[in-house]
Amino acid sequence: MYLSKEEERILNGEEGYAAQKSMEILASLGDIYGADKLISISSCQIAGVSYKTIGDAGLFFISEFSKSSRVKVKSTLNPMGMDSLGWQRMGIKEEFAKKQHEIIDAYFKMGIDCSCTCTPYLIGNRPNCGEHIAWSESSAVSFANSILGAKTNREGGPSSLASSILGKTPNYGLHLERNRKAKVIIDVKAKIKSFSDVGALGNYVGSIIGSKVPYFKNLEINSDKLKSLGASMAASGSVALYHVEGLTPEYAKAIDDDIEKIEVGKEEIEESKCKLSSSDDMELICIGCPHCSIGEVKEALELFKKEGRKFKGDIWICTSRYVKNELERTGVAQEIEKYAKLLADTCMVVAPIEEMYEKTATNSGKAAVYLPSLCKQKVRFGDLESLIKDFK
Ligand code: F3S
Repeated sequence: MYLSKEEERILNGEEGYAAQKSMEILASLGDIYGADKLISISSCQIAGVSYKTIGDAGLFFISEFSKSSRVKVKSTLNPMGMDSLGWQRMGIKEEFAKKQHEIIDAYFKMGIDCSCTCTPYLIGNRPNCGEHIAWSESSAVSFANSILGAKTNREGGPSSLASSILGKTPNYGLHLERNRKAKVIIDVKAKIKSFSDVGALGNYVGSIIGSKVPYFKNLEINSDKLKSLGASMAASGSVALYHVEGLTPEYAKAIDDDIEKIEVGKEEIEESKCKLSSSDDMELICIGCPHCSIGEVKEALELFKKEGRKFKGDIWICTSRYVKNELERTGVAQEIEKYAKLLADTCMVVAPIEEMYEKTATNSGKAAVYLPSLCKQKVRFGDLESLIKDFK
């Protein structure tokens, strides 16, 4: 990959350790993937925040970086391993909390916005159509590419951090127009209404198309469900961009004749739902993967009120600090807390829930994939309404 004189200078260490390491990471990626050059980006979203997932090695890496650099573009963080203010009531141990705070402090020193969420697009980090960015959380990557029309590859934690320090990313993959075309049509014959329908659809499609770009026909769902669809496809496959006919910004130019076509009916959706469940029992119900919007939390509150009773175990609603603050300001959070814990900054997958629970229920297709593998959980997958009905 071509490097300018200025970039060569950084690679030679003339701007310090962190900038040099960052340039090494981006130059290597550029060489591996055949990028022609580095391009400027407008924002970063950085994964690799929870102490559970990055451990002491990750903490050391970030701390070293924080000694000699500050970020050049707007940068936000993925969820950490606990609610930064309410970690005790989650059952998090003090030692874990101490390490987690050290990680956040190191990111903060670099000038990163430490609001930890996988839905940065709901709280102000919302790129415009056509902007180049370097985001790493797979569900956020999918939303940014597909729903906002911004351009990002599915970055790793270190590469998005490197991009935030340099304000650049290698020009390959989904930064190039030619790679943003659909490769397969998904003709949705089933009725897709609930979050579990969406999760099951995403899980099925991701598992059969891998990393191809799909083009959905006959799919009418709202923005909250679109974020869920993208998350689910990114978890069962590695889909980083999808188009929905009549809905997403690039759909009109995304399709060529003669591409593969797959029909998804009721049978496939039911089959997918069965695969995502490994237990009927539940000790904990979690929603908010990706992090809940204000509207989703309000919908959950309506369901709790309709059910009108206490539940037999914990319910976690995961969201961003911004959304939680907003819900506190309007009194909704206080109402929700009569039934469930409203948690900010974290989620059911990156928190150490395996130290507290063994059986978790969720309405998220993405969480249902990761809870068994990353959190040793038996999972019940279903709609919040049906889950809380049985939680007695
Ligand atoms: Fe977000 Fe955690 Fe799910 S980071 S997309 S809530 S696994």
